[in-house]
Amino acid sequence: MKALLVTGGCGFIGVNFIRFLLEETPDFHGRIVNVDKLTYAANPRSLADLAEAHPDRYRFVHADIADRARMARVFDEEQVDAVCHFAAESHVDRSIAAPDAFIVTNVVGTCTLLELARERADRIARFHHVSTDEVFGSLGPEGYFTEETPYHPNSPYAASKAASDHLVRAWHTTYGLPVTISNCSNNYGPFQFPEKLIPLMILNALEGRPLPVYGDGRNVRDWLYVRDHCEAVWRVMTRGAPGRTYAVGGGAEEANIDVVHRVCDLVDELAGPRPDGAPRRELVRFVADRPGHDRRYAIDGTRIGRELGWQPRESFETGLRRTVAWYLAHADWVAAVRSGAYRDWIRAHYGEEGGAM
Ligand code: NAD
Ligand code: TYD
Repeated sequence: MKALLVTGGCGFIGVNFIRFLLEETPDFHGRIVNVDKLTYAANPRSLADLAEAHPDRYRFVHADIADRARMARVFDEEQVDAVCHFAAESHVDRSIAAPDAFIVTNVVGTCTLLELARERADRIARFHHVSTDEVFGSLGPEGYFTEETPYHPNSPYAASKAASDHLVRAWHTTYGLPVTISNCSNNYGPFQFPEKLIPLMILNALEGRPLPVYGDGRNVRDWLYVRDHCEAVWRVMTRGAPGRTYAVGGGAEEANIDVVHRVCDLVDELAGPRPDGAPRRELVRFVADRPGHDRRYAIDGTRIGRELGWQPRESFETGLRRTVAWYLAHADWVAAVRSGAYRDWIRAHYGEEGGAM
């Protein structure tokens, strides 16, 4: 892999992945071309120091993956020989409110990249597609998702990711494109946009605002520390068999209400008590449930453990402590991603499209 195209590299996992490759992966010697449309979820400044430290190994291109002509130029000008595809609309609640963008980016955008890779099949060594365990639907109290679990997506987001997984697999079966797919559980860690559960709760708890917990708070997610996920993606890209799928989990099942309580206790400990001394757990408010809310996700990671020797390193206790500490230490990053001034900065640097919400 001399020229690796990373899509969505200014989003949460993409930023962590590019940092992981350039700073912590001695067996990666190539260049990274990061293509990102800069939606509301992106922050190109999360990588500004890397662009300066590795000018010959890192390049950012502001583009939409669904823009075929533009992406063809990127593939050819950069001589792309491998793809790691993160770009997506990724938030379930937004997909319920406005599904269209999920179809355009997650389905049409993925198809566009597959076609461009197919046209350059002699050069493309690997097309890795990053997907979610949400394609499998909801578990009851028992059992785990494996690579053999039938697809049963429930939200528009999950349905769009399921569609993209099927396209990727079909481009392998039909055209022999050397694809791999990973379906991972909920990630958490530094640089996550504060609309997802953990960063939203950290910041609301810090600021003394209500903590909205959907339904009875007993929905269960399997939490995967983002750096562990990055390591798994790299392992699959470099050692996984073409055409193969890998389920990736954190081995950390928690009910939402327990996650929120842990966050409250960590913020109390690390940021100090609220002015009135009341514990932040008192900020929890049970609110109307999400429509079609999946009850439980959990991953059986036997395949990636046995075939690729990958295990998560971080426990939920240590990972969550690191995450809370990171948000407390990066108030400037938080203020930037929430501010209108930040949108203005993107428009000034990358043009009007960069501000598309
Ligand atoms: P994110 O929303 O934080 O970032 C997505 C990035 O993609 C943003 O930088 C955005 O600007 C970019 N993007 C969106 N549309 C684009 C387009 N049309 N062209 C180019 N760039 C575009 O998402 P994330 O949490 O980093 O997730 C990355 C991938 O991992 C997604 O494919 C998601 O489905 C998958 N995933 C995420 C999780 C999780 O817990 N975050 C879990 C399982 C799978
Ligand atoms: P989220 O971070 O949106 O990830 P996903 O929907 O992809 O699993 O939500 C994680 C869980 O937390 C999910 O069960 C919904 C719940 N949740 C809340 O209870 N309150 C909130 O404000 C949010 C954003 C999520």
